Amino acid sequence: MFKNKITKKLLKVIPGGAHTYSRGADTFPANTPPILQRGKGVYVYDQNGVKYLDYGMGLRSINIGYSEEKINRAAIEGINKGNNLTRPSIIELKAAELITSLIKSADMVKFTKNGSTAVTAAVKLARAYTGKKIILRCADHPFFSYDDWFIGSTNVPRGVTDETKKLTKLFNYNDIESLKKQIKKYKNKIACVVLEPSSTTCPKIKNESSCCHKSKCDRNFKKKNHFLKEVQNLCKKNKIVFILDEMITGFRWDIKGAQNFYNLKPDISTFGKAMANGFSVSAICGSKKIMELGSITNKKQEKVFLLSTTHGAEMNGLSAFIETVKYLKDKKVIKKNWEYGEALIKGANRIAEKMNIKKNFYFSGVACSPIYNCLDKDNKPSLKFRTLFIQEMLKHKILMPWVSISYRHNNLTLQKTLVALEKVLKVYKKALEFGPNKYIKGHIIKPVFRRYN
Ligand SMILES: Cc1ncc(COP(=O)(O)O)c(C=O)c1O
Repeated sequence: MFKNKITKKLLKVIPGGAHTYSRGADTFPANTPPILQRGKGVYVYDQNGVKYLDYGMGLRSINIGYSEEKINRAAIEGINKGNNLTRPSIIELKAAELITSLIKSADMVKFTKNGSTAVTAAVKLARAYTGKKIILRCADHPFFSYDDWFIGSTNVPRGVTDETKKLTKLFNYNDIESLKKQIKKYKNKIACVVLEPSSTTCPKIKNESSCCHKSKCDRNFKKKNHFLKEVQNLCKKNKIVFILDEMITGFRWDIKGAQNFYNLKPDISTFGKAMANGFSVSAICGSKKIMELGSITNKKQEKVFLLSTTHGAEMNGLSAFIETVKYLKDKKVIKKNWEYGEALIKGANRIAEKMNIKKNFYFSGVACSPIYNCLDKDNKPSLKFRTLFIQEMLKHKILMPWVSISYRHNNLTLQKTLVALEKVLKVYKKALEFGPNKYIKGHIIKPVFRRYN
């Protein structure tokens, strides 16, 4: 399946050929550059220096642009200060004060280097706080952590003990009854509920459709009751710790988190990805009463061994985080990204509609984080058609495995994208008519969470 020489080399020395499964060669069409040498703004360059307009944006870790001067300079200042010292650094305190001032539900924070560690710490803290074991996690959100409590509940549970698997149960997003059912079933045994505030859609307000796809959302989540508020209320009523994983939504939906956008107060929330424009920082934040379990001040309390990592507070990442927040505010990045997303959704859908294939290809999602939907002629989600779409976009030097918007996406990149899309959808239309197989060159992309290779 993998004929490319570089891919073969990668697979020889790295299981999966990359350090995230979603970067692996099996999840991209055969004409994708097998390896990249650098990124600048919204462009990435392959091994031969060929330039691609990127919508992957470092697995959504970039919300301004690759290699941003100001952010880089801040990170280098951190490095020049020694990067990692023997006692807490001044930058560490500044960064902690910044995030706790920004995120309303955060009285305290612990930083670490990746999201999985932060979300797992949140689950551990919830178990310690409640003395309960069961975790209810949202089935519709693709990823929370590489740790066993999550992986044991996916299609790839090999290596996880049965005891661990039994402790994680599922519910569905925008389906409050599915959560109520689990709470009833596991009454008095549940430590926490964990979900993203939003991924492909917003929380439902009663029976209204759940997303307006507009940059100026007019659904008034602040004043109305909605799915996430009901989750929060259920957690409170049943003494369950409410964990919001803001790894993707954080610093994209709202500078104060999607929790501010949807008017929520989680007990614990986790951040990472774009909080430092690509530098490695993530965080677990929460209310004092829970976070303090990991403290050293209360002599009567049994201590929780919360995150403790050698590199967790490196100054390069935390300096980049402080500068990223400043940049997001100064340049109104988040507003601009919402507007770009809305324009992309509208522009793409206009083209699909004009070509009479909108039932088979369309953009949707929250405007700051659009998604595209590839369906076959029977209107069923299709990995073949998704492969074809990504393959054809690549022919126009656009890398769009998903859509992650950053500040450096601008009018020019939007126009370039829409021009390419029109040409790509012509091929898509033919494939609907004559079948996709003859248009796909190479393998069909596969989902990360599959039991067999
Ligand atoms: C919602 C969510 N939580 C947690 C993680 C894990 O983050 P990391 O890859 O930094 O460990 C991810 C990564 O994709 C994520 O999307």
